[in-house]
Amino acid sequence: MSRRSDAPRKIKGDPIDMERIAIYPGSFDPITYGHVDIVERALEIFDKVIVAVAQNEEKRALFSVRERVAMIKEVFKEMPNVIADSFEGLLVEYVAKTNAKVIIRGLRATSDFEYEFHMASMNRSLNTHLDTLFMMTSKDYFFVSSRTIKEVARLGGAVEGLVPNLVVRNLKKKFKLPVPKRNEIGWDD
Ligand code: PNS
Repeated sequence: MSRRSDAPRKIKGDPIDMERIAIYPGSFDPITYGHVDIVERALEIFDKVIVAVAQNEEKRALFSVRERVAMIKEVFKEMPNVIADSFEGLLVEYVAKTNAKVIIRGLRATSDFEYEFHMASMNRSLNTHLDTLFMMTSKDYFFVSSRTIKEVARLGGAVEGLVPNLVVRNLKKKFKLPVPKRNEIGWDD
């Protein structure tokens, strides 16, 4: 006699069997708590999030791609379902090499919309199987961008609480400012 099980019924090829992977691409120069918030919320929807640092020769970055990936790895070291990676060339080609079908982007304000709309539309025209999912940045971080973080840090302003502490220390090192000791700053890494 067959017994009823409460476990969900699995059918081969059923979406229930498939790992839901999302790619979160960006410059991440450096990663901020705004980015961290998007990743954490994306994990409520996806099984795995690949945070992918774009190697963009046109943009002069403060941190090398290797440094940026290392910081992302460190920030998410307790979360095995977050992968830090980098890619060169077209995003759609990188995504095609993974099993992801969704690109995640954070939207901070209406000013982000036009650029993001163009990018998502271009990516979709390059690969019609891909979708971009926009997530609104949390109200606590809507004013935070890597660009403003770098400017404030370079001029000696406080960026604690807006970026992970290892990023605070790495920014200070880059700008040759005194690096706080372990007990002078929360140690979240
Ligand atoms: O954090 P950013 O700088 O806004 O991220 C932009 C990024 C890296 C997602 C975008 O420039 C990108 O996808 N670059 C890879 C090259 C590419 O595919 N370009 C065509 C997109 S329209």
